[in-house]
Amino acid sequence: MAAKILIIDDDTSLRRVLEYNLQAEGYEVLTAADGETGLAIFAECSPDLVITDLKMPGMNGFQVLATIKERSPTTLVIVITAFAAVDTAIEAMKLGAYDYITKPFNRDQLKLVVKKALDLRGLSEENRLLREELTERAEFRHIIGISRGMEQVFAIVRKVADTDATVLITGESGTGKEQVARAIHSLSSRRASPFVPINCAAIPRDLLESELFGHVKGAFTGAIRDKVGKFQSADGGTLFLDEVGDLPIDLQPKLLRALQEKTVEPVGGNAEQKLDVRVVAATNMDLETAMDKGNFRDDLYYRLSIIPIHLPPLRERLDDITLLIKHFTAKHGGAGVTFAPEVLEVMKRYPWPGNVRELENTVERLLIMRNSDSIGIDDLPARGG
Ligand SMILES: Nc1ncnc2c1ncn2[C@@H]1O[C@H](COP(=O)(O)OP(=O)(O)OP(=O)(O)O)[C@@H](O)[C@H]1O
Ligand SMILES: [Mg+2]
Repeated sequence: MAAKILIIDDDTSLRRVLEYNLQAEGYEVLTAADGETGLAIFAECSPDLVITDLKMPGMNGFQVLATIKERSPTTLVIVITAFAAVDTAIEAMKLGAYDYITKPFNRDQLKLVVKKALDLRGLSEENRLLREELTERAEFRHIIGISRGMEQVFAIVRKVADTDATVLITGESGTGKEQVARAIHSLSSRRASPFVPINCAAIPRDLLESELFGHVKGAFTGAIRDKVGKFQSADGGTLFLDEVGDLPIDLQPKLLRALQEKTVEPVGGNAEQKLDVRVVAATNMDLETAMDKGNFRDDLYYRLSIIPIHLPPLRERLDDITLLIKHFTAKHGGAGVTFAPEVLEVMKRYPWPGNVRELENTVERLLIMRNSDSIGIDDLPARGG
């Protein structure tokens, strides 16, 4: 049976375009020109999905959303917003909207967003918990991205999250690797168990082995009692091996063994421990070069990168910059602050070697240093970024 979609929008031509495009995809489409009518049809026909404009005379989209979520928490709602007002869409998502479409919209984007929502609903009908949907929204809400590159990342994350496959996340510093690793954990059925991060570059070689695998009392001078390693702490959950490219070559076979046999042996011990740990690794190093130089073992590389996820540098996803700026402005207490178009232009031309982290720091600094709530070109630091 065709999925039923209700469209609520006061703009007649936009309503028709949406109706036409969604009917062409084989959906059954109902339409309403205002919020009240929309809710009446909603009560009558229980659609699978509601698409509502946010800004409408009379009852607005936020009220429609709130009412629908109250009557039927599992119904998915997609909101429509002008591109310039994307922050209102994010507001709506905090109130339970599943996703948003910007005007003017592009047909492929529309189809994709609708299909994604209906697929998710299909899953929930096969009795995946509503809770999962909510967790997914909560997790992805912190990862901002509408660029094609980030859409691809989200798609892979959704697909692999609930498997035990090892994931290798690559990307320059500040591109969001740790954030993606946490999203994978939160979207998996391991989410109630620990997410344990360890930074392989930050721990001296001599301590790293016992940090990872634990040690037994007396294993070496100073080992005055048994120590539990990160692997053991992550039992049932996810171990995040950050900067895995910095793992010393002599420890690599031991990690490989842990991945393959799912057992670890604490330093100085002679009993293997069986563990259930999902490993997600990240690096900003080019591991292929490290392999050529003999600093990283091929066998470990192939074992880690069963599912590779590459985060593109920010300069290759300019579409995300405006949205990220809005997100960080809100995050750092700048609600109501606006940026002049020339400022956004300059920000899009700057290459952002420190990627999203640098952008966040820049926004934070601009907010602190601002003279008024409209940030203009003169507020930018002299270096031009
Ligand atoms: N897509 C995004 N949306 C919102 N915030 C982001 C995004 N990507 C990164 N950030 C923010 O940027 C900062 C850096 O992200 P993260 O620590 O995940 O990067 P990383 O790739 O692990 O960096 P490094 O290689 O330096 O460890 C964090 O504060 C994170 O919240
Ligand atoms: Mg990191």
